[in-house]
Amino acid sequence: MSSQLISLKNLSVSFGGVRALTDVSISVERNSVVGLIGPNGAGKTTLFNCISGLVKSTTGTFEFEGIARPFPKPHELANLGITRTLQGVGLFNELSVIQNVMVGADKHYRANFFRELFGLSGRVEAELRERAEEALAWTGASALINSKPSELSYPDSKRVSLARALVATPKLLLLDEPAAGLGQDDIDALAALIKEIKRRCAVLIVEHHVDFVREISDSVTVLNFGKSIATGTYDEIKQNPAVVEAYLGNSDKNDQNSDLIA
Ligand SMILES: Nc1ncnc2c1ncn2[C@@H]1O[C@H](COP(=O)(O)OP(=O)(O)OP(=O)(O)O)[C@@H](O)[C@H]1O
Ligand SMILES: [Mg+2]
Repeated sequence: MSSQLISLKNLSVSFGGVRALTDVSISVERNSVVGLIGPNGAGKTTLFNCISGLVKSTTGTFEFEGIARPFPKPHELANLGITRTLQGVGLFNELSVIQNVMVGADKHYRANFFRELFGLSGRVEAELRERAEEALAWTGASALINSKPSELSYPDSKRVSLARALVATPKLLLLDEPAAGLGQDDIDALAALIKEIKRRCAVLIVEHHVDFVREISDSVTVLNFGKSIATGTYDEIKQNPAVVEAYLGNSDKNDQNSDLIA
């Protein structure tokens, strides 16, 4: 069995005249954490959107669990075993916390949920509720199950959106800036949680907080202007002149970008 869970080769994406990705390749081994970093606008979220079927790559190949297949459509992701959190929060405001997490649980439940909100059999609902409670416990959000998203602090909303991605027991978890806007204590708790999560699945994570990336990542890929300019351990990429140049060249635009070379 290939040790690569997912392997993407030679992706290219354009939005009109903007080349968001050019010939980018990346792979994630099973039970590993890969950090994807780069200055603002480098193409990190676009890469996630390619994996999730939200934008189309005009070139390249997609391999999952050693099998080449077409790029997945959004509705195929959960079945493949891929879930993601969005940059920001992205919870459904009209649903409670527990309902938001249950919606992430499986496609049967999701289909039913929107058709007849509580039309599930008691047994199915009880089972999903139990899984959702377990996911919320994992992310430290057990006390919030009956709250509405509008009542949550920002760090708590991030906990709930992570629980929603975990409840489907993914093989690959895509996290887009999970530490953005969090204080140091919450970032430390998230780092500990991701180390736990890695025992169950692989994680591809976009993040600007480089200390956090260094702590959790087995490997790091750096994008700049849509191109992959380095891949390796954090300590390796940090020395790479192209990486230093990318971050120095952008340090006036984004203070976080200069952290890498500090
Ligand atoms: N739907 C879209 N339509 C047009 N241009 C887009 C679209 N999505 C992204 N882009 C452009 O593609 C480039 C890459 O954007 P992307 O959001 O992937 O960057 P990013 O690395 O995630 O940046 P950030 O760190 O700010 O989140 C940018 O120039 C962006 O303006
Ligand atoms: Mg982004």
